[in-house]
Amino acid sequence: MKILLVDDDPISSNALYDYLLSKGYKTNTAATAKECFEKLQSEEFDVLLLDFVLPDKSGLEILNELAKNTRYNDLTKIMITGFGSIKTAVEAMKKGAYDFITKPIDLKYLIQLLKRIEKEKKIIEERNMYIEHLSNINIDIVQAKSRTMNQVWELAKQIAVSDSPVLLTGETGVGKDIVARYIHAKSKRSNRPFVPINCAAIPKDLIEAELFGSEKGSFTGAIQRKRGKFEIANNGTLFLDEIGELDVSLQSKLLRVIEDGTFYRIGGSELVKTNVRIVAATNRDLKKLLANGKFREDLYYRISTFHIDIPPLRQRKEDIPVFLNYFIDMIARKYNKKTPKFNEEDYNLLCDYSWPGNVRELKAFCERLIVLSYHNEIKEKINNILDLDTKEANTNYSMKFIVRKHILDVYNKTGKNKLQTARLLQISRRTLHNKLKEYGVD
Ligand SMILES: Nc1ncnc2c1ncn2[C@@H]1O[C@H](COP(=O)(O)OP(=O)(O)OP(=O)(O)O)[C@@H](O)[C@H]1O
Ligand SMILES: [Mg+2]
Repeated sequence: MKILLVDDDPISSNALYDYLLSKGYKTNTAATAKECFEKLQSEEFDVLLLDFVLPDKSGLEILNELAKNTRYNDLTKIMITGFGSIKTAVEAMKKGAYDFITKPIDLKYLIQLLKRIEKEKKIIEERNMYIEHLSNINIDIVQAKSRTMNQVWELAKQIAVSDSPVLLTGETGVGKDIVARYIHAKSKRSNRPFVPINCAAIPKDLIEAELFGSEKGSFTGAIQRKRGKFEIANNGTLFLDEIGELDVSLQSKLLRVIEDGTFYRIGGSELVKTNVRIVAATNRDLKKLLANGKFREDLYYRISTFHIDIPPLRQRKEDIPVFLNYFIDMIARKYNKKTPKFNEEDYNLLCDYSWPGNVRELKAFCERLIVLSYHNEIKEKINNILDLDTKEANTNYSMKFIVRKHILDVYNKTGKNKLQTARLLQISRRTLHNKLKEYGVD
């Protein structure tokens, strides 16, 4: 970990410098704000130890300037105050300081602090290993830990270079949308438009005009020529979301554009040429729709030139902790809140949960967790999980879940009579008491 020590008093600065070096920290010093910024610009530092009073600028002013530059987001700022002024220290924390220490410096405390920072930085670093930022579409993608999902991303990357259609299938919330964007971002079309259209969200009689455009006067309300998504997406990618909902009558027109890149606008006689790459997605079973005559077979074979099936979260449980950590951290930052620490029991339960709404459900849960109270949300979630209808054989619950559910069921059935519950469960009252406390039910 590299430290920049900014202090204008040579005596205290030198002493601290020597001490930090002796503890194995690579340290550099600056005596003025100007020098501080020069050093920050020419070298990467992890921690800034910043004296409150400098000859050219105050520590608060420096914090302000640092906050304006995202380059310094990962720089941990610790203020050193000579006067022990709590008010300025609080102000500094608001402006992004991590902590403050008072002069004379308690060296033991400082080392503890640095060790803690080092540990936290390591955790963040590990977490960032799983994030890929696609700057051209400004999306952070959480990299998977599971083998199956890694294969999905790998396949997506390989497919991206081709111009052939891709079909993405998978339950709601598994990440079809994000994989579609990834394919676009990794393709040679990446600086051209990515145009999504949700076939389920647009009424049947409007979708044709949305896709293919319309000429002026072609139907009531068409007061001018309208470009369709196929024109807008020219040279880019058209993402046909929920393609299973597309009316059969439109499917042949769609097939034709995919085959030869031409179509007519509604009410138009001019053949329009377009060059789009189709990515389609659905959470329906297209094979079933084929059998029922709801989906054209020729179209199906055309759009599924490449087919990626994204597995649900419950089939790739290793990915759950990565998502949990990422979303909690990301959302906490968004709302400027401290990242809550899970207790182990809760964490394990959440990692074991089947998440029927997949990544979307998990993300929404993290959002509520941060915005509402951590403890209430955790308890509520877990109790909700337990309330799920278990008549259907559910293979996704761990032993712990079942034990918890059973204890709570009996407890509720006895009208919250502890003595009776303990007797029925054949456990001591003390054990029952501890369990209830653990579940937040007492
Ligand atoms: N690998 C990932 N990294 C970051 N966020 C993800 C990842 N996978 C999914 N998400 C997030 O989870 C949510 C659901 O993903 P997405 O919208 O891609 O699902 P979907 O399969 O298209 O769902 P639906 O069938 O309901 O349209 C989104 O907010 C998305 O950003
Ligand atoms: Mg989607």
